[in-house]
Amino acid sequence: MQLLRSFVFSFLAATAVARPGSGGRPEAAIQARGAKYALKEPPLTTPWTDKVGVDPWPEYPRPQMQRSQWQNLNGVWQYQNASSLSAVQNPPFGQDLGQEVLIPSCLESGLSGIQGSYTLYSWFSTSFQVPSEWKGDNLLLNFGAVDYEATVFVNGKKAGFHRGGYFRFTLDVTQYLKEGQENELLVFVHDPTDDGDYVIPIGKQTLRPSHIFYTPCSGIWQSVFIEPVQANHITGVDLDGNMDGQVNVTVHTTNMNVTTNVQVTVHENGDVVATHSGPSNQPFQFKVDSPKLWSPSSPNLYNVTVKMGKDLVQSYTGFRTISKGTVDGVVRPLLNGEFIFMFGTLDQGFWPDGIYTPPTKEAMVYDLQVLKSLGFNMVRKHIKVENELFYQACDELGLLVIQDMPALRPSQSKTLANCATEAILPDPAQQKEFTRQLELLINQHKSFPSIATWVIYNEGWGQITTYYPEFELTELVKQLDPTRLIDSTTGWYDHGAGDFSDNHHYANPQCGTPFYSINSSPYDETRIGFQGEFGGLGNNVSIEHLWNNQAAINTINQTYEIDTTIDAWNYRSHLLLSELEDQVKRFACSGGVWTQTTDVEGEVNGLMTYDRRLKRVDEDQWKSDIQALYKAASGRRNATMSSL
Ligand SMILES: *[C@@H]1O[C@H](CO)[C@@H](O)[C@H](O)[C@H]1NC(C)=O
Ligand SMILES: *[C@@H]1O[C@H](CO)[C@@H](O)[C@H](O)[C@H]1NC(C)=O
Ligand SMILES: *[C@@H]1O[C@H](CO)[C@@H](O)[C@H](O)[C@H]1NC(C)=O
Ligand SMILES: *[C@@H]1O[C@H](CO)[C@@H](O)[C@H](O)[C@H]1NC(C)=O
Ligand SMILES: *[C@@H]1O[C@H](CO)[C@@H](O)[C@H](O)[C@H]1NC(C)=O
Ligand SMILES: *[C@@H]1O[C@H](CO)[C@@H](O)[C@H](O)[C@H]1NC(C)=O
Ligand SMILES: *[C@@H]1O[C@H](CO)[C@@H](O)[C@H](O)[C@H]1NC(C)=O
Repeated sequence: MQLLRSFVFSFLAATAVARPGSGGRPEAAIQARGAKYALKEPPLTTPWTDKVGVDPWPEYPRPQMQRSQWQNLNGVWQYQNASSLSAVQNPPFGQDLGQEVLIPSCLESGLSGIQGSYTLYSWFSTSFQVPSEWKGDNLLLNFGAVDYEATVFVNGKKAGFHRGGYFRFTLDVTQYLKEGQENELLVFVHDPTDDGDYVIPIGKQTLRPSHIFYTPCSGIWQSVFIEPVQANHITGVDLDGNMDGQVNVTVHTTNMNVTTNVQVTVHENGDVVATHSGPSNQPFQFKVDSPKLWSPSSPNLYNVTVKMGKDLVQSYTGFRTISKGTVDGVVRPLLNGEFIFMFGTLDQGFWPDGIYTPPTKEAMVYDLQVLKSLGFNMVRKHIKVENELFYQACDELGLLVIQDMPALRPSQSKTLANCATEAILPDPAQQKEFTRQLELLINQHKSFPSIATWVIYNEGWGQITTYYPEFELTELVKQLDPTRLIDSTTGWYDHGAGDFSDNHHYANPQCGTPFYSINSSPYDETRIGFQGEFGGLGNNVSIEHLWNNQAAINTINQTYEIDTTIDAWNYRSHLLLSELEDQVKRFACSGGVWTQTTDVEGEVNGLMTYDRRLKRVDEDQWKSDIQALYKAASGRRNATMSSL
């Protein structure tokens, strides 16, 4: 095994030097290392399963801070299951780890080549050479997301640690490198999901999947890449463009205490439309004259370059303003000063072959294109955070995003000594960590123009009710990002925080209506009336399109409603959409979220099946029903509110 490894090393060395770095991995190296990796047949495939190969996610992973030089480390790595947290004390440096795994992937997915379960502790390794052209530069090692904790070693030295399964992190590994040689990268991952007493942001992942809670994702599930930089370099760019053409920018740099001059230039089709210099590490503003505004119907974007000394990064922005205001006596969400009826789907981002990692970018964008073509103008990214190319696709296609914070241990309870049951909620330290990760969510994503609203809590999951933490969290989010609306509690325990009065009700909607049901609150006219979830109509189409796992199939009968034919499903959909339209006309409904984009595991209520091979929607009917909602909303701009 040692022999094979050194063979691979010399192979890599030869090819990496021949093809210095601005993009993917040397091809021969991928093949050499890919010899033992094989896709494991998942319980259901997608049209993209067989297209993944051993060079997954070759795209540049960071669209809002692109550097010209980079090298992708995605591909076949080595993998070893470990048995406890203490394994991190004894790293297997220089060893063959015995199995191969595709990076990025979830260890539970067929695409990983492992398809494991209870992969709580794991080792991953690869090696890389730094192109000789990068000599003299610092080297950054970037991870898109590792679920849940990553301890990173380079050449036998600990290079860093990161906690939080949905967020990117960067390590400057310059001091650990060996010049002109292979560098060993070893990563220990601990992902407890909902094991034991852990209460951490997990969204819909659970070690015990059942009906609306699904297979978890462990490991390095987003892209890994290296890039050369100067010692003092740009570490982040916060960009906001508003409807008046004002650009508000903060350029973060390595040395936060030193102010350097940075130059920001806005381009349109190659022409410079504005350029401005300002200080690093503090916000400054400048104006672009009469920009073409961004909206779902005209998703205009502008390229932006940011320069500090020798460091140059490419980004982009869109000019739009999200706000709320009273339109004819009703509090409404506004886009560029006008009432926008936001209508989208609950979008879970699960895949039968990749779990949390879409098989390819094309597959990921396909879901969004289906929504866009039906006329949805929004997508609610449900208690998951996607890779950055997802948000870029929403920016480009013109889909507003309602972004949820991944929930803490959803809807779980424990049995106490006296046999009573109690909801599992965070203790003060766990709540503090939830808050820290909420800050990461906002800070890492606030420059995507399509994101319109942040959601803090979904249906009370992880929401402490002995006091109302949503008020202080709403304040915190407003402070980090004053440019968006906040849906503090979507569904269930609403105590008046945030911008929305958000009802969840299945199957039929209760959107801004003078009636409501259990687990929701009456419409509050001081906030935006919204239907955060409805629909959920089920249809058990056939075994060919099902997640073929008996435990999941056994939960299908928990679906709110089963329609025995696709025609019946479309008939019922039309009734529910018409009911929402009626509520838009009569009451104070400002938008809604249909459950859901696709089936997921034992949940069979998607516009599409879980494999994306079958669309349940009668496209003409749905297009016309969705347009009727926008028409009803625009009819409310000047009408007086009617009532029952
Ligand atoms: C990893 O090890 C744990 C126990 O230490 C075991 O439960 C689990 O099945 C193993 N997973 C894989 C993929 O080997
Ligand atoms: C610019 O953005 C920062 C946060 O990134 C914010 O604190 C500040 O208020 C904004 N300034 C203007 C003038 O919009
Ligand atoms: C920046 O300043 C803060 C507070 O003055 C200090 O704690 C920190 O060490 C400084 N950082 C650097 C990189 O000098
Ligand atoms: C932005 O840059 C990309 C690639 O450099 C180019 O394809 C695109 O057309 C540019 N967009 C605008 C609006 O200039
Ligand atoms: C659903 O089906 C499972 C397995 O077939 C069965 O055990 C369970 O009792 C059923 N539940 C309902 C509500 O019918
Ligand atoms: C759904 O379909 C599967 C496969 O045909 C079947 O085994 C299962 O019993 C069905 N469940 C329900 C509730 O219709
Ligand atoms: C609605 O009211 C605005 C301002 O009051 C007015 O400019 C506009 O023409 C009205 N639109 C319709 C369709 O009546």
